[in-house]
Amino acid sequence: PLECADQVSQWTARYIVDKINAFQPTAEKPFVLGLPTGGTPQKTYQELIKLYQAGEVSFKNVVTFNMDEYVGLPKDHPESYHTFMHENLFNHIDIPPQNINLLDGMAEDVDAECSRYEEKIRSYGKIHLFMGGVGVDGHIAFNEPASSLSSRTRIKTLTEDTLIANSRFFNNDVNQVPKFALTVGVGTLLDAEEVLILVTGYNKALALQACVEGPVNHLWTISALQLHRRAIVVCDEPATQEL
Ligand code: GLP
Repeated sequence: PLECADQVSQWTARYIVDKINAFQPTAEKPFVLGLPTGGTPQKTYQELIKLYQAGEVSFKNVVTFNMDEYVGLPKDHPESYHTFMHENLFNHIDIPPQNINLLDGMAEDVDAECSRYEEKIRSYGKIHLFMGGVGVDGHIAFNEPASSLSSRTRIKTLTEDTLIANSRFFNNDVNQVPKFALTVGVGTLLDAEEVLILVTGYNKALALQACVEGPVNHLWTISALQLHRRAIVVCDEPATQEL
């Protein structure tokens, strides 16, 4: 654990940059990075932009896959994860637009969209590093409690808890929060070479406890990380209070 959330973002941004640089990506052999949205990674994205501006990293040969997207929000909706990612990261770095992968929450055929995404990931072999956050109830991406731990990319119904938690982005009106999302599965995440989870704040302390001390179980999907050979949890002091 680090002392505070700022240190978590600084450490993580440096870690990602070092990984990309050590990999020496090329157009033929890009570095494949999985990315989350949410309040937690926002500062990490700011740190990544700073390192990019300081000339310490290029994203020209980095390919990204985002974890999830709301169903029914147009790409340019202010709260779509598409908008979030462009505003918080992509618009500020040199990543080529064709290297950016996001699920299409407006797809008419949702199952086809999810299969397309899985296939695209597979076409690169694997995701080298998947960064994620965690919900208060221990969900990873949008793998809500009771998701299968071998799940793949699919549509999920969001729980009432998640709708309430995310209503802060929708004028505090729970009715405006989309009720469904497309999300990579727990199985998709476990396939990544390395998974790095950011956990900050006391409100995530129970999720962190379930992640590292609890039994592997589908009610706290974050606990599936215990099955991964290279899972890193980067957390601050308040998040460790229940350990
Ligand atoms: C959403 C996202 C998750 C994220 C979670 C926590 O549910 N789908 O990927 O981890 O929110 O977000 P925050 O970092 O804002 O607490």
